Amino acid sequence: MKPRNIVPTAIERVMKPDEYIISTTDTGGRITSVNDVFVDYSGYAQKELLRSQHNIVRHPDTPRSIFWLAWETLKEGGDFYGYLKNMSKDGGYYWVFAHIQPEYGGGEIVGYRSVRRVPRREALGTIAALYRDVRAAERTVPAKQAIPAGLAVLSQFLAQRGQSYEQMVARL
Ligand SMILES: Cc1cc2nc3c(=O)[nH]c(=O)nc-3n(C[C@H](O)[C@H](O)[C@H](O)COP(=O)(O)O)c2cc1C
Repeated sequence: MKPRNIVPTAIERVMKPDEYIISTTDTGGRITSVNDVFVDYSGYAQKELLRSQHNIVRHPDTPRSIFWLAWETLKEGGDFYGYLKNMSKDGGYYWVFAHIQPEYGGGEIVGYRSVRRVPRREALGTIAALYRDVRAAERTVPAKQAIPAGLAVLSQFLAQRGQSYEQMVARL
């Protein structure tokens, strides 16, 4: 279970270049396995993580639209690459560059797997500013309209660059 009322702090943990934060989930996004690096960065014990929803490490600064994009891609069998700001149990944060992909069994998606590595520091300025704008748009409307409102800001930003989200993250 995700503890309520974690207050986000300004304490950042920066991933090292040789570290990989790995987890797997079932088809509903419930955690089925984590590696030791995941445990370290999240601040949760392995037993707190297993069977919890993966939003246990969700940081309020990461837009809902980004998760919507991730799930749309994954449910269609695609791989999602993206920047996520995650939150530790103590409210601290850590940026990751995540690759999430479906896992197959008998031709069907049976779960998902994510490997996260340190993001390029230069990319984070652009991403943090973009996510701030997208999140602001999501927050100014009723909850039901948050994703369309966020996607509108994201699409406008991407249109100016002439890129899809996937192309942008690959080139930043
Ligand atoms: C394999 C896998 C890995 C994920 N990794 C993360 C992650 O590192 N951080 C995160 O916030 N959400 C991650 N998610 C997305 C969460 O399932 C969830 O959609 C997101 O946290 C938003 O949750 P909410 O809509 O309940 O706020 C992952 C999902 C899957 C399937």
